[in-house]
Amino acid sequence: MTTVYLNGKFLPIEAACIPVTDRGFLFGDGVYEVIPAYGGRLFRLAQHLQRLQNSLDGIRLDNPHSNREWSAILNKLLERNRALAGPDDDQSVYLQVTRGSAAKRDHSFPQDVVPTVFAMSSAISEPEPAVMEQGIAAVTLDDIRWQYCDIKAVTLLANVLLRQQALDRGAGEAILLREGRVIEGCASNVFVVENGTILTPAKGPEMLPGITRDLVLELAQQHQLPCQETDISEARLREADEIWITSSTREVVPVTLLDGTAVGRGAPGPLWKTMIGFYQAYKESIRKGTAE
Ligand code: PDD
Repeated sequence: MTTVYLNGKFLPIEAACIPVTDRGFLFGDGVYEVIPAYGGRLFRLAQHLQRLQNSLDGIRLDNPHSNREWSAILNKLLERNRALAGPDDDQSVYLQVTRGSAAKRDHSFPQDVVPTVFAMSSAISEPEPAVMEQGIAAVTLDDIRWQYCDIKAVTLLANVLLRQQALDRGAGEAILLREGRVIEGCASNVFVVENGTILTPAKGPEMLPGITRDLVLELAQQHQLPCQETDISEARLREADEIWITSSTREVVPVTLLDGTAVGRGAPGPLWKTMIGFYQAYKESIRKGTAE
């Protein structure tokens, strides 16, 4: 049975309940993180907890825990759910902090906030072979979201609608455009390869600063692959030799079809193959405990 963490207690998932007046439920007033763990070891925990702190600061909510407390909670959760994970003990942790509940539904912050703190974990499996061999299709859509996309807010209605639009068109992700520039995916960051250089948009309030994105840039620099953070116009996206999307759950995925047109040769490109090799080696070093 899956165990979850809720407000100081580890409980069977069926027993975990929150009041219907929770502001996460009524207003989407909360933030979250998704953190993979390989071989039972949390991936880039310090970076995820720093982003959580930034998100909490962004919505003016105190962090209910120190990093040491978060680490203890999440590791205990992984331990409790180990039996459900595969032989590699790869799990994905989801954590959420909301502004708690108040007696009255009122948009303004309640006087005394007791945050709701929730975490769950589930097994993750290796990326599907078909995705790695053929890549995925993506479509471009207008970015209809708000102006604080660097906050990892649970208020994901726009992302949900956009992702569903992509799925309805037979694609696995939507690449979001604002005023003719690439921003990110519905739940991923975007990279393009142009004449042997790896490009990705620079960080800013329009997009989530992805932990996987940062790792891909780090790996590129470590291995002397040319890379650059820069604006990517829609025209450059359409001309790209390769397009990749990155996220904690999907890792680094090649996009081989964009709006029905082949990207490059319509197959995962050579730089993606190099990068995914580095990425998998890095994951392995987490399993062995030689990296974090
Ligand atoms: N989402 N951009 C958005 C809008 C995202 O929701 C995500 C991840 C990313 C990639 O960030 P990271 O590399 O840190 O996972 C970029 C998670 C996985 C989710 O919502 O499930």
